[in-house]
Amino acid sequence: MNLTDRVVVITGGAGGIGAAMARRFTAEGAAAVVVADLDGDAARAVAEAIGPVAHPATVDVTDEEQVRSVVADTERRFGRIDLFCANAGVTTGGGIEVDDAAWDRSWRVNVLAHVYSARAVLPGMLARGGGHLLHTCSAAGVLTAVGDAAYTATKHGAVGFAEWLSVTYRDRGIRVSALCPQGVDTPMLAGGLADGHLGAKVIAASGAVLTPDQVVDAVVAGLAEERFLILPHPEVAAYARRRAEDPDGWQAGLRKLVRRLAT
Ligand SMILES: NC(=O)c1ccc[n+]([C@@H]2O[C@H](COP(=O)([O-])OP(=O)(O)OC[C@H]3O[C@@H](n4cnc5c(N)ncnc54)[C@H](O)[C@@H]3O)[C@@H](O)[C@H]2O)c1
Repeated sequence: MNLTDRVVVITGGAGGIGAAMARRFTAEGAAAVVVADLDGDAARAVAEAIGPVAHPATVDVTDEEQVRSVVADTERRFGRIDLFCANAGVTTGGGIEVDDAAWDRSWRVNVLAHVYSARAVLPGMLARGGGHLLHTCSAAGVLTAVGDAAYTATKHGAVGFAEWLSVTYRDRGIRVSALCPQGVDTPMLAGGLADGHLGAKVIAASGAVLTPDQVVDAVVAGLAEERFLILPHPEVAAYARRRAEDPDGWQAGLRKLVRRLAT
């Protein structure tokens, strides 16, 4: 897919990666970009800075009715949705001690919201014979996020669900991409680095911390090539291969890195 004349919805559109997608997709010639976020004021500010192609929407992606409503509004106003970016995501910064409410929130934002948007958007895409779903997962979904158990478990769920969608719908014209960045310089990671959080230190030691714009370069290329796995950090492919070939050796190496960074 190229972005010219496309109608796009981006959840988490007010955040680091989502806002960068909104700016870049507009620059690539999108017809309409809906910047959807829980933080309606921030979504409005992003959309206003972009100009008339961008349209803000206040949406809690964990509420299926709100997701259905933003999809229906977009289809009514612009006739279709070509690309839906399920990009909103949350971390917990903790392990098994994290309470059930935070686990539940991770599950609802990082996985169930992707189910809600697929349910809402697929009927229109299938009726028109095509469309693209871009799900922002994480390198945590193909490796592990040291220091965040719920993030790791739910991002693995997100990659699994995206793969299921791709296998199930590709022959009916639907393309699915799972975006799996490692460290990206957004408020999500910057806070952890500033606090000296071990997980953030592991991310920084495992490869480059990219800007959101660099991530979106990889997104635009991945969409154009209709690739399932979009890896802005090429080293993640090597890590995933090593993990698959030798899980015990991979984990031993990771534990060694964690011990080194913890001292
Ligand atoms: N920053 C990184 O290092 C990194 C690495 C890999 C993957 N990711 C993923 O990239 C995506 C974007 O994250 P980011 O780094 O831009 O973080 P961010 O915190 O800057 O942006 C996340 C956005 O999601 C919105 N959001 C949260 N809950 C929501 C909800 N219930 N409904 C609607 N919007 C909601 C937030 O308001 C925020 O604007 C996430 O899925 C994240 O897990 C980030």
